[in-house]
Amino acid sequence: WPDGTHLSGADLVIGGIPVTRLAAQFGTPCQVLDVETVRRRARSFVETLPDAEVVFAGKSLPCPEVYRWMAAEGLSLDVSSAGELALAKAAGFPASRIVMHGNVKTAEDLKAALAYGVSRIVVDSLDEIAQLGALARHGQQVMIRVTPGVDAHTHAAIATGVEDQKFGFSLASGAALEAILRVVEQPSLRLTGLHCHIGSQVRHVASYEEAVRRMVSLIASCGVRIEQLDLGGGFCAPYLPGESSFDLFGFAQRLRGTLNYECALHRVPVPRVLIEPGRSIVANAGVTLYRVCAVKRGARTFVAVDGGMSDNPRPALYGAKYVVRLVGRGGKPQPVTVVGRHCEAGDVLAEDVPLPSDVHAGDLLAVPVTGAYHHALASNYNQVCRPPVIAVNNGVARPVVRRETEEDLLRRYV
Ligand code: LLP
Repeated sequence: WPDGTHLSGADLVIGGIPVTRLAAQFGTPCQVLDVETVRRRARSFVETLPDAEVVFAGKSLPCPEVYRWMAAEGLSLDVSSAGELALAKAAGFPASRIVMHGNVKTAEDLKAALAYGVSRIVVDSLDEIAQLGALARHGQQVMIRVTPGVDAHTHAAIATGVEDQKFGFSLASGAALEAILRVVEQPSLRLTGLHCHIGSQVRHVASYEEAVRRMVSLIASCGVRIEQLDLGGGFCAPYLPGESSFDLFGFAQRLRGTLNYECALHRVPVPRVLIEPGRSIVANAGVTLYRVCAVKRGARTFVAVDGGMSDNPRPALYGAKYVVRLVGRGGKPQPVTVVGRHCEAGDVLAEDVPLPSDVHAGDLLAVPVTGAYHHALASNYNQVCRPPVIAVNNGVARPVVRRETEEDLLRRYV
């Protein structure tokens, strides 16, 4: 739950506002985002790693207002398309603090990045190096995405540091070294740094230490001065009771120790570190509110709500698990399956979660840890309009993403 969330009777208070009031005012489904939780977590990265550049992974919660909070807290921003860049521009995010990513950047993505003057572009293929080399004028800073071959022990769909997946240049095969030489050959590009991102929802600091060891050995062997080492994001967030937050303090200490040791060992200058947290900043700040629309009691009890896989595809995609809480009253708990409104049997939001046995249509449900990759992954499946994001702070609530309407849907149809 967001920091400071508490009960008032059977109501849940987030950012100083009872969620029953938020549901009445803004409708459901609706995503509530606690501003202080987001900003405090962003700040804690900057304060715990004062020598590093902390780059918010904009894909985790794409929203100009959120990007503005990040800018104000001193973070940089990573964007992975011209679309995310458009949001950054709308936020007035300084180009000097934007990094562009993506295993595919179209010519339009690259041109938009160059036109805005994005400070660094992380290249991911030889094709891209050639294309960017031709498009860029004098001294565009470039980082190279390396696949360090580190297993981050996470879900296969979000493990990106191992060999044999689509991202980056393999360190083991020598492709990374070749990419370094290619960038150096391009007169319009300047090699600023190396990048790796081992995966998402990573729990172990040791996985990052292993990435540092491998990346520093590459820096030592490439014969080119590397000023920046970007270790990507992936720091885990707790979704269920008993799961712990990422050990940021331990990470900062062990990172510093390992980096200094490895650089001394290989006799290379210590590069400036960049990290790219997304989920660990915003996940726990978000709570989604749903209205119960129907309950079916049989061998299992199905509780159907007014949202589903269009606002949260994560259970279907990654087997993600969530807590569900009934707001407004208590009752003897009974395990139920909370399902969405979409035309698929796999549209299940949470299985075997305890809810009061008399749960009925009209009840309000709250699902925490929905701040990261929920608004971002939302779709219009079944032409369901996407929910708003309501920022709450000190008793004030305001939409930072408004609810989608049927006019929005119809606008694209010819
Ligand atoms: N940097 C790069 C290059 C990335 O690709 C990502 C996430 C991040 C940073 C931020 O990772 P984070 O700190 O948020 O874990 N849709 C999936 C997550 C996909 C992550 C994609 N890349 C999910 O809902 O779990």
